[in-house]
Amino acid sequence: MCGIVGYAGRDRCVEVLMEGLGHLEYRGYDSAGLALQTEGRIERIREVGRLENLARTIARRNGDLSPLRTGVGHTRWATHGRPTEENAHPQLGGNGTVAVVHNGIIENFAELKEELQGRGFRFRSETDTEVMAHLIAERVDGGESLREALAGVLRQLEGTFAVAALSAGEPGKVVAARHQSPLVVGFGEGENFLASAVQALLGETSQFLHVENGEIVEVTDSSVEVFTPEGEHVERESFEVDWEAEAVELGGYRDYMLKEIHEQPAALGATLLGRIDVDGAVDLSEIDLDFTDTDRVVVVACGTAYHAGLLGKHAIEKLARIPVEVEIASEYRYADPIGNESTLVVAISQSGETTDTLAAIQEARRFGAKVLAVTNTRGSLITREADAVLLTKAGPEICVASTKAFACQVAVLDLLALQLARARGVMPEEALREAGRGLRLAPEKVEETIQGLGERVGEAAAVFEAARCSLFLGRGISYPVALEGALKLKEISYLPSEGYPSGEMKHGPIALVDEYCPVVAILGDGVVREKTISNVEETVARGANVIAVAREGDRAAQRISGVILPVPEAPELVSPLVASVPLQLLAHHVATDRGLDVDKPRNLAKSVTVE
Ligand code: F6R
Repeated sequence: MCGIVGYAGRDRCVEVLMEGLGHLEYRGYDSAGLALQTEGRIERIREVGRLENLARTIARRNGDLSPLRTGVGHTRWATHGRPTEENAHPQLGGNGTVAVVHNGIIENFAELKEELQGRGFRFRSETDTEVMAHLIAERVDGGESLREALAGVLRQLEGTFAVAALSAGEPGKVVAARHQSPLVVGFGEGENFLASAVQALLGETSQFLHVENGEIVEVTDSSVEVFTPEGEHVERESFEVDWEAEAVELGGYRDYMLKEIHEQPAALGATLLGRIDVDGAVDLSEIDLDFTDTDRVVVVACGTAYHAGLLGKHAIEKLARIPVEVEIASEYRYADPIGNESTLVVAISQSGETTDTLAAIQEARRFGAKVLAVTNTRGSLITREADAVLLTKAGPEICVASTKAFACQVAVLDLLALQLARARGVMPEEALREAGRGLRLAPEKVEETIQGLGERVGEAAAVFEAARCSLFLGRGISYPVALEGALKLKEISYLPSEGYPSGEMKHGPIALVDEYCPVVAILGDGVVREKTISNVEETVARGANVIAVAREGDRAAQRISGVILPVPEAPELVSPLVASVPLQLLAHHVATDRGLDVDKPRNLAKSVTVE
């Protein structure tokens, strides 16, 4: 997805913009550019491809851009028009006196463009953004301030967007606004910042302010002013982000995916800290929600977060005995869902920005549900739509494929299950505490799993060398783990992979099985283990090469598989977390064996903020 950075301050503008864009690279982009104010003009530089290309072009300018103090930068993920220099942002309006960078999509851009063309405007790009640049410039040329012009143009636009603009006639000022796409202001000393995500500015400041839908913000070196669309001042508290800048550096790992897989024990520790005591008693008093009349839970989420929701269903139904439905947010939002004030809707989103999950919340609001957001991003859009928020404390997730955030989402749902069970008094206190003490072991069990895998991941990855597809099988709580394992593998190695409940194999998917379709079996514990083993045996009979996620020395696993990915014995709430780790590392290994960029898989972006 696109990234925005803005700056007003000292003569380090280019450096701040380039660093900020660098921290947003993980979101995916195909071109980049800067616009800088210089002596009554706007200087623009754009390049297709990596930020290095833009950095080289800047370097060729022999430092003539270095003294400049105000500017905006952008990384573009092509939506309207191919990834060319002409389509890269910033886009200029009028005769180059206004520059605009923009994330999101302007849905009515075609009509607006036609109307502008009819009035003689000449377009140099295929973007929807250029429409906005011309509309703003026209108003500025007509005597409006940049802020007034932006406010006027926003009234004409339909769609989702965050936008930042410069006018040659208003030196030292960046003006920005948003509608459904995120935008934050960062505070400095004698300098202030703007960005589409806090990650862009972590090296610069920890003090942030959110721009709300429809608001306009004016940023100079010494002031940050927020206005309503009608031009009235808005007072807003800033908030602090406690993520370390180093958290977005690689720190010796070959890529972010590997780093984030290894960060899981620490992320789980941070997520559980203060929420569960040594005795296993859970305290979620941070969420000011009364669960006494909750008779149904609906989880809404996308992708990996949806899989975390499926595991949450197991925990909540088992411990709290409340029926749980888990819905894919993009389906739920159009499903005319049923519910009432006693329905608790839990919306899970690492980024807190995913459009479908936000829309699902709005649907739930229609029938008066209580909404609890589970997110990794403090102050994100989702937190402002919800009645209460439970933060996962995974730290910044840079790799597109979610790993540590998934683990923390599952842990938070487990905490919620324990809290709901307690509120409803459906289980003896001691049994709940025992489950709680089990959950506290998550960090160490996940660490033990990572340490115990060693060479096995490579051996298992070798099975995929000649594969044309693969199947991930599990039952009960191992089924969501299978789904997640298949998603990880397909998204970063591009190998078609399906997750299935192993009991469903004989109803169709078994037709896929042969020696070129490895089967990854998550054996699990409890009543379904034996059933899973017999299902897997049927695949062996059809020539499958099986990899088992099981305990070291497990006889049945040895019989049916060529490689065991060993997992330690773990309490029930922790076992899906433990079983996910080898699958994450397997996907990573298969993709790197294929020479692929695991952090930025093709066609994917970190958060899906457009429909
Ligand atoms: C897969 C992955 C995605 C996200 C999904 C939801 O590895 O990362 O499937 O889980 O796009 O994103 P959030 O949680 O930000 O709403």
